[in-house]
Amino acid sequence: MINPLKSIVARIKRRRFNRANSEIIGIKAKKLTYLSTDSLLEMKATVAAIEREKIAGMFIEAGCALGGSAILIGMTKNRDRRFGVYDVFGMIPEPSEKDGVDVHERYKVIREGKSTGIGGDEYYGYQEDLLEKVRNNFLDFGLDPEAHNIEFVKGLFQDTLKIQGNVAFAHIDCDWYESVTVCLEQIVPRLSVGGKLIIDDYNDWSGCKSAIDDYFKEMTGNYKFTHRSKLQIERIK
Ligand SMILES: C[S@@+](CC[C@H](N)C(=O)[O-])C[C@H]1O[C@@H](n2cnc3c(N)ncnc32)[C@H](O)[C@@H]1O
Repeated sequence: MINPLKSIVARIKRRRFNRANSEIIGIKAKKLTYLSTDSLLEMKATVAAIEREKIAGMFIEAGCALGGSAILIGMTKNRDRRFGVYDVFGMIPEPSEKDGVDVHERYKVIREGKSTGIGGDEYYGYQEDLLEKVRNNFLDFGLDPEAHNIEFVKGLFQDTLKIQGNVAFAHIDCDWYESVTVCLEQIVPRLSVGGKLIIDDYNDWSGCKSAIDDYFKEMTGNYKFTHRSKLQIERIK
């Protein structure tokens, strides 16, 4: 027998949750992100805490695709916080010999034009004018990039990721070994104490895992690693 009181309470809770997280529900409904709802909730809480704690430095997303997770960061951060969104805004670059078989098999599917996108949509890497589409996706969520101090930086991280000043938060979501390594080399030395990285693909792609393990092999003392739905790395001293 269904308990009517229990189901009313559940409905009220669901409604409250939906109201408090309407941007996440909208991002998922529009199929703008590969992240799960749990991962998006964690990211939102992390970004909000960094703002509350007033950790100094810019925000970064390396790997934006259609813009879903970047829109969430943009909507959660303080309006004047600088936010750089880095991507090729086109086809993902080739992996290297440092990536495992899983990555090379995935890349073969993409290169041969056989990848499908989120929820059966066209794969983002095959779309024309991706940067323009991403900009429009931001506008659809009320985020005028100029007014919200958001800058899109198009190109390979190897060429574009030249960070000046401190970093308070970075979402590193770029799948392959070389891409993740470039991000770590540029961002980690500039990460503020109390600043955090979210590493999207540590449990998903072999190259990302190796890049993190290699980079932090001899420098774990200053960093705290927390395995949640995604790996979070905090600079603690
Ligand atoms: C998994 S997608 C990002 C997903 C997105 N954050 C979301 O919310 O679904 C990875 C992105 O990283 C980009 N990328 C990977 N390596 C790169 C590199 N070396 N330089 C620039 N962009 C890169 C890809 O083109 C792709 O757009």
